[in-house]
Amino acid sequence: MSYELITLDVADRIATITVNRPDKLNALNSGTIAELGRAIDEARERDDVGGVILTGAGRAFIAGADISGLAKSSVEAKALAQRGQVVFRKFETSPKPTIAAVNGFALGGGCELAMACHLRLASEHAKFGQPEVKLGLVPGYGGTQRLPRLVGKGRALQLLLTGEIIDAAEAFRIGLVNRVHPAGELIGAARTMLATMMANAPLALAGCIEAVNRGYDLPLEEANALEATMFGVLAGSEDMREGTEAFLAKRAPQFTGR
Ligand code: COA
Repeated sequence: MSYELITLDVADRIATITVNRPDKLNALNSGTIAELGRAIDEARERDDVGGVILTGAGRAFIAGADISGLAKSSVEAKALAQRGQVVFRKFETSPKPTIAAVNGFALGGGCELAMACHLRLASEHAKFGQPEVKLGLVPGYGGTQRLPRLVGKGRALQLLLTGEIIDAAEAFRIGLVNRVHPAGELIGAARTMLATMMANAPLALAGCIEAVNRGYDLPLEEANALEATMFGVLAGSEDMREGTEAFLAKRAPQFTGR
């Protein structure tokens, strides 16, 4: 599949999706959103991919929605937000782990897309914020919903209402990012993290992601029931047999995803 505004490279079973409009700090125009949707679909479908890294070319991760394309009618703007939300949700519901390697500005839609990924690793130069209020807007790609889920309502409202930009250390302190790395080590750290995950059983990874995503908004009793069903389904998998046999035989497991 060919792309113009992003790149997709696969190596060692890791798909790296790079937003590639560095002269516009990788701002998300509608073409970029559409290509991101195709790229995550491709990564989810390809048998030679076990995990995904999302990053940005140049000095930014993604500096937000492309402001030059925001002047629309209310109906068009709502449709724009909905199209983006569908694409971002594909990263969140990917059965293969998705890691945002935040190499610079992650503002507005950039912060929102990072939050839709399963983990966020940041370079020490990364900056985060939801500055939409400065433009007379609210976030449109899930920011008002995922930010409080990640950092708590009070901290989320502080970021949303001030529009302030915080550095990587502060983002780590409030739980917005999982880890902070020197810039030159960011992609390597993301690859190492994914390799650690991908050494585990693929169906178990997909099960954890689905249980967390679907269970998060359910009452605890229903969420626990979902988890028990997932546990039962996985107990019948070949990989569960392989994992337990390998443990007892004191050897490394060979998982096949079945
Ligand atoms: N949409 C469209 N273009 C953007 C953009 C965005 N969200 N963010 C940056 N750009 C463009 C700039 O217009 C500029 O283009 P130009 O060279 O053709 O003039 C280029 O990217 C470089 O940005 P610049 O502002 O010159 O860099 P800077 O280092 O001075 O500032 C930021 C960096 C991120 C602080 C600043 O670009 C900014 O505030 N961007 C908007 C962030 C935002 O509000 N995002 C939420 C949108 S809903």
